[in-house]
Amino acid sequence: NWSMESFIVEQTKKIKETVKNDKVILALSGGVDSSVVAALLNHAIKDQLTCIFVDHGLLRKGERESVEKVFKDEFKINLITVDAKKRFLEKLKNISDPEIKRKIIGNEFIRVFEEETNKLNDAKFLAQGTLYTDIIESGTKHAETIKSHHNVGGLPEDIKFKLIEPLNTLFKDEVRDLGRKLGLSNEIVDRQPFPGPGLAIRILGDITDEKIKVVQESDYILREEFKNHGLDKKIWQYFTVLTPLKTVGVKGDKRAYENVLAIRAVTSIDGMTADFADIPYNVLQIVSTRIINEVDGVGRVVYDITSKPPGTIEWE
Ligand code: XMP
Repeated sequence: NWSMESFIVEQTKKIKETVKNDKVILALSGGVDSSVVAALLNHAIKDQLTCIFVDHGLLRKGERESVEKVFKDEFKINLITVDAKKRFLEKLKNISDPEIKRKIIGNEFIRVFEEETNKLNDAKFLAQGTLYTDIIESGTKHAETIKSHHNVGGLPEDIKFKLIEPLNTLFKDEVRDLGRKLGLSNEIVDRQPFPGPGLAIRILGDITDEKIKVVQESDYILREEFKNHGLDKKIWQYFTVLTPLKTVGVKGDKRAYENVLAIRAVTSIDGMTADFADIPYNVLQIVSTRIINEVDGVGRVVYDITSKPPGTIEWE
């Protein structure tokens, strides 16, 4: 007689028995899985939990603030935000190759995380948001051969902590359900997937502060308008991609020579295959006009009509 309520009761008991009086660390990304683990551990062991949130400077606009608001202010969780933008951007300077970007970000993430956990020398456990599906899929990691997916949970192998993975019997929809029962808002629980390397793989070519700003601002407008038009719940993933292509246009009465920006919006069940989404023209028109008018550095907006396969969801 399985129910989410009994799952919470059993897991709470199990976590308490495992952890006893020791401390637990969790790498919180703001994504669904780590957020639900945070809520569950908070429910089970409260003050014994410390969450570490690494801001690599490649997050969406408002992301860090929303994580802090929910977990620090509302849940009163002991949350450490690491402002690591500078060191990530330093390492990424002049790097254009997508795989090298992923590796740099993955490695730097581990380094930052290790530095932080070294400061918390009384912690014994590390919690991870591993799902049942992650375990099944690790046998057949198809995507791995195409892109070396770096996940925020991707931690060193010689880890000195004992792992706890309280979601590892659950599927994604059950995790969402659990999150709601534990008091997380739909905004968090229904969140679209966001890659570990963040906006770095949505900026084609090398990464600069200005380019990050362009992607953050345009992505924010896209999200705002999709929400206004009720598309946010129907579409698996939607974001903007900044290309290094320059295009001629007119702004004011002057010639402009600015970059091409793409909108990517796809429907999907599991991210393995995807179709470009059927977005009403009027919404595309509003988004395009707003981005051209409000975001400096964008001269042209295009809509990506490639399905997966052969295209991948992200452009890099
Ligand atoms: P692709 O681009 O391979 O993406 O069609 C499939 C799904 O995976 C996400 N993605 C990543 N997630 N680290 C992640 O944690 C990564 O390096 C990464 N690359 C892509 C992508 O956003 C989509 O949901």
